[in-house]
Amino acid sequence: MSITLRTLTGDSLTGEITPAGDKSISHRTIILGSLAEGTTRATGLLEGEDVLRTIGAFRAMGAEIVRQGPGQYEITGQGVDGLKEPGDVLDMGNSGTAMRLLSGLLASQPFYSVLTGDHSLRSRPMGRVVTPLRKMGARITGRDGGRLAPLTIEGGELVPITYESPVASAQVKSCVLLAGLNTAGETTVIEPAPTRDHTERMLTAFGAEVERDGLKVTVDGWPELKAQSIEVPADISAAAFPMVAALITPGSDIIIRNVGMNPTRTGILALLDLMGANIERINERNAGGEPVADLHVRYSELRGIDAPREVAPAAIDEYPIFFVAAALADGVTEARGIEELRVKESDRISAMAKGLTALGAEFTEYPDGARIVGNPNGLKGGATVDSDTDHRIAMSLLVAGLRCAEPVTVTRCDNINTSFPGFATSMGALGMRVEEVAEPQS
Ligand code: S3P
Repeated sequence: MSITLRTLTGDSLTGEITPAGDKSISHRTIILGSLAEGTTRATGLLEGEDVLRTIGAFRAMGAEIVRQGPGQYEITGQGVDGLKEPGDVLDMGNSGTAMRLLSGLLASQPFYSVLTGDHSLRSRPMGRVVTPLRKMGARITGRDGGRLAPLTIEGGELVPITYESPVASAQVKSCVLLAGLNTAGETTVIEPAPTRDHTERMLTAFGAEVERDGLKVTVDGWPELKAQSIEVPADISAAAFPMVAALITPGSDIIIRNVGMNPTRTGILALLDLMGANIERINERNAGGEPVADLHVRYSELRGIDAPREVAPAAIDEYPIFFVAAALADGVTEARGIEELRVKESDRISAMAKGLTALGAEFTEYPDGARIVGNPNGLKGGATVDSDTDHRIAMSLLVAGLRCAEPVTVTRCDNINTSFPGFATSMGALGMRVEEVAEPQS
């Protein structure tokens, strides 16, 4: 059984929404909480499938993780070298972040472990983390010479390195930094472009020595991590769905509460600003080492843009929903230099090209991007489109349905639960009509 959802053409969206907790920060809260001494208290933690996998993995390695209430957790760790060998394979489900960050951490632990995942995760590139880990002396193997999971790790002592990453990836950077935590000396990563820096911020908050200098970040091994209180903000990557939904639906006026505004994550706001979006940041504040704001979003007549390449890392997860905004904007939008989209939970350029074309949009694929001719009058819809099991493709195509003449049906939506549990209910409260479609009985 898999979940099929349908969006009916929308009335305007109004009201308030607090989207799901930030997925990147939630993973890191569990990881660092499990490595710290003492009890870390977290609120607002994302209880999506991906983070639940990380919680499961750390419980299997001896961390005490207790749910106190919705999004409220207590995590008691045993120190950087206090984890124990898991009794079984660690199944990270759909989560690239969990697999890549854990591979670094586990490579330096004195025990054997195996990381696997679902069909999508087992087809995503792991060579990008295996290569630097092997340079540190890690004994790590996988299918296709170590390029694909499952990954088998015979953990042990590593040597610190300076790694110049060929790919702008926070997961690669974080993997190497976490490997460096239980390694004597200084481990350095140099990135080709700045990527999300939640690992660095949180390591510093937990008491590790982290030095940042432009694109270079260095961590000192064997820190004593001290338990923290962490307020996880709402995920800007989840907020992007109600944001674009309101921008494209005439008459809409909504407030999105408590959104993480880390500058390495706000690329979607930069892109939408260029398109002429009316998004006001209100109530800007700091919560647990991360900037946060409420966003007041009103329907806007968007125009097509040339998306600046340098925005890509800060908007990397938001291109599918950005393509929806582009398909309903006045004029042509081009985005290049985003070939990383092809190795996400699905090939997101191709999945959105298929989906939006079926709904009546004019979408041309490039190997490294897309060209979309917008139609501010709306799309025809009336089709059944597939999410390719990708949560962000599913939510993007459902939002596109708000401006389609006929209902839009999206298949294989189960993985919405990885990042935005309750999406249909939360969006429903704003006035978007999303319904579950019964599967035909076989
Ligand atoms: C993430 C980093 C990004 C992003 C992913 C979460 C993280 O991946 O796409 O959703 O939490 O570090 P890459 O590092 O592969 O770009």
